[in-house]
Amino acid sequence: MVLKGCIFDLDGVLVDTAKYHFLAWKRLADQLDIKFTEKDNERLKGVSRMDSLEIILELGNLSPDSRTKEKYATLKNQWYVDYISKMTPEEILPGSLEFIDELKKAGIKTAIGSASKNTPLILKRVGIEKLFDAIADGNIVHKAKPDPEVFLTAAQMLKVEPRFCVVFEDAIAGVQAALNAGMLCVGIGSPDVLAKAHCVVPGLKEMSLGKLVKIKI
Ligand code: G6P
Ligand code: MG
Repeated sequence: MVLKGCIFDLDGVLVDTAKYHFLAWKRLADQLDIKFTEKDNERLKGVSRMDSLEIILELGNLSPDSRTKEKYATLKNQWYVDYISKMTPEEILPGSLEFIDELKKAGIKTAIGSASKNTPLILKRVGIEKLFDAIADGNIVHKAKPDPEVFLTAAQMLKVEPRFCVVFEDAIAGVQAALNAGMLCVGIGSPDVLAKAHCVVPGLKEMSLGKLVKIKI
């Protein structure tokens, strides 16, 4: 494969924000008397804010009107923003910076492809807002993964054809979105969960350009 662009999901690939999402959703669930565990939180990975809220409300058999739902989502986000506002560069997941540096030196373009509307804040807090050639996030993209919109938008911003792009993803919906975009996909996490990815590694620490170009399609 000719590799020209690498697109990174943010949450769970470059930074571990799942714990902050959990704490904020848990606070909402507690207020609504809904039992919500870390295992339930797994179901929210890669899922948009409103869809995550729907999953939590379903756990509690609640179906409030849409204005109330908006209120809940806003509350959760305020708490989440409180957490991520305190993030530091130490929270970048191991190996990420080294791998991106290797790609850049090889002339490969890099982008973010994330559903999160908080992408700019997170990138700024961990000090990598200027690292990428393009950022496609929840502020400019509206169709949730597994729709390929976020990755196709990133590729367009990079001016690279989708077939020359590789996506790095930790969520099942994200892997499917990459495949729907016609891109190669490296799963970050467990091969059991991310079975559809072309290759799975535990983290970017285990990735290198040498390994990437050897992946069989
Ligand atoms: C990522 C995370 C999800 C989160 C979504 C929206 O995909 O994996 O857990 O719900 O972004 O994030 P936001 O920051 O916009 O609420
Ligand atoms: Mg993710």
